[in-house]
Amino acid sequence: MATRVIELVGPEGFIHGWIFVGVPGVGGKVFHPSLGHGTVTGHSGSHATVRFARGTHTFPARTGKGPGRLSQHATGSTGSANSAAARLARARASGLTGKGDTAALGLQAEVHVESYKDGSKWISKKLPTVDDAEREVLAGKVSDVIGAGAPAVIRSGNDHIHEPLVAGKPAVTLWRDDLTQQEMEDAAHHAISLLSTPEGKRIGLLDTLIGNRDRGLRNWMISPAGKPVPIDHNTSWTEAKLGTESPFVKDLRPSDFTAAQLDKWEAGLTALRPSLSAYQQEMLTRTLAALKSFRHG
Ligand SMILES: Nc1ncnc2c1ncn2[C@@H]1O[C@H](COP(=O)(O)OP(=O)(O)OP(=O)(O)O)[C@@H](O)[C@H]1O
Ligand SMILES: [Mg+2]
Repeated sequence: MATRVIELVGPEGFIHGWIFVGVPGVGGKVFHPSLGHGTVTGHSGSHATVRFARGTHTFPARTGKGPGRLSQHATGSTGSANSAAARLARARASGLTGKGDTAALGLQAEVHVESYKDGSKWISKKLPTVDDAEREVLAGKVSDVIGAGAPAVIRSGNDHIHEPLVAGKPAVTLWRDDLTQQEMEDAAHHAISLLSTPEGKRIGLLDTLIGNRDRGLRNWMISPAGKPVPIDHNTSWTEAKLGTESPFVKDLRPSDFTAAQLDKWEAGLTALRPSLSAYQQEMLTRTLAALKSFRHG
């Protein structure tokens, strides 16, 4: 995928004055004027470590404003949320052209599709509580670290988030009242076949790590390419015991992932900590414990 370098200006901070990425996420692609392109491999809150072709360097991360560059398709945990936030800001600056309902209305949340003059479409989700918004944001970051494909979550108010509109259809729309028995069975086979795809396995891991109790057919989409995409994570972490009834975990095994992948994700999740609220840090601790018990059975 071609990466287009974009300018980002925001309130969070910059590394050493040469790049502005907020708190850089592990995996985020960055650009240094003399060292060239690099990948963030970790950060401690006050320092960020970046790997370049010519070696690894650690830089102080300072608070302040400054111009910088972040590649738009960076996979960094906070990097993708930052770039989505920049796109939402541009969309808002272009002007709202319409607000409509989604294919399947939210049950607890107030969910709308917003269309903007720049052609972009966003989901606006007003949640029952502030904690719901905190959980939705954290789930987006966890998904980003492990590559589970959930849309970036942008905090647009205390109890309000925005997400890019995921193309495709909610899985529930595989079923319609007018289907024949055979068509119903085919729809079920189709849905089941998606659970064990590589994308489905990542969703299963996400659900395991966040304790998702709500992975019903309205809470995952089927992309135009036929891949499952997870949405709706605000009720995760709400049970005393972090567990899940997600259909995506049914046949999930630690051996579905390599040890190197699991190591990388553990490091990526740990590196989220400095960017989290106290409440989110508590949930991250539970998520890291869930990853450990998943790995070791
Ligand atoms: N990012 C998205 N892209 C496309 N459609 C979405 C997106 N987020 C939500 N939707 C659509 O809106 C519907 C309702 O959203 P969502 O599931 O997040 O809210 P909800 O069910 O009310 O949440 P909760 O039950 O957690 O309060 C979804 O079933 C889906 O059809
Ligand atoms: Mg839902």
